[in-house]
Amino acid sequence: MPSRSAGSRASRSSSKSPSAGKAAAGDGALALPSGAPTLRRVTTPRDTNLMGTVFGGAILAEIDLAAAVEAHKTHAGSVVTVAMDKVIFKRPVFVGDLISLYTRTVSVGTTSITVHVSVWADRRRPPHESVPVTEATVTMVAVDEELRPVPVRGG
Ligand SMILES: CC(C)(COP(=O)(O)OP(=O)(O)OC[C@H]1O[C@@H](n2cnc3c(N)ncnc32)[C@H](O)[C@@H]1OP(=O)(O)O)[C@@H](O)C(=O)NCCC(=O)NCCS
Repeated sequence: MPSRSAGSRASRSSSKSPSAGKAAAGDGALALPSGAPTLRRVTTPRDTNLMGTVFGGAILAEIDLAAAVEAHKTHAGSVVTVAMDKVIFKRPVFVGDLISLYTRTVSVGTTSITVHVSVWADRRRPPHESVPVTEATVTMVAVDEELRPVPVRGG
């Protein structure tokens, strides 16, 4: 877990409107999601690409995990990812940024659970703004031990 207090940084961010910065791709809803994030972690040099910013795959891995955690609120058994739709990388993530992943269940089907994931970064560098960096819609499928789809809530 991050050693610094993410909660205080998140609350600080709400008074420092991200909309004060330059608009980025897909900045439709700029409000910090309400409630606690599902996952949170500090990025490290291990996450970087050749540009020195955080590799998109590292963010996607966290999105996948956060979506699974959200899906488990609906289905206690195993879930696998069937689709990641409409992934938008709005802004770069830098080493040392604290990323927070907010999740929301969008729909529940017969065997699937669709989750929206919004990722925010608390910048390590001053002025330590909190900005939306990535979002995605992830569909998880409830599966049995043979990895066959099973009805949601059946587990
Ligand atoms: C997930 C998996 C078990 C689904 O098997 P399947 O035979 O395709 O199952 P179905 O066609 O019955 O679809 C299952 C559900 O997924 C949904 N689904 C299938 N393809 C989808 C897609 N491309 N996007 C969104 N939802 C999709 C279906 O609508 C259905 O939902 P519903 O029951 O709520 O209506 C299978 O595709 C699989 O094993 N995929 C690999 C999973 C994986 O390894 N993920 C990465 C690591 S976790």
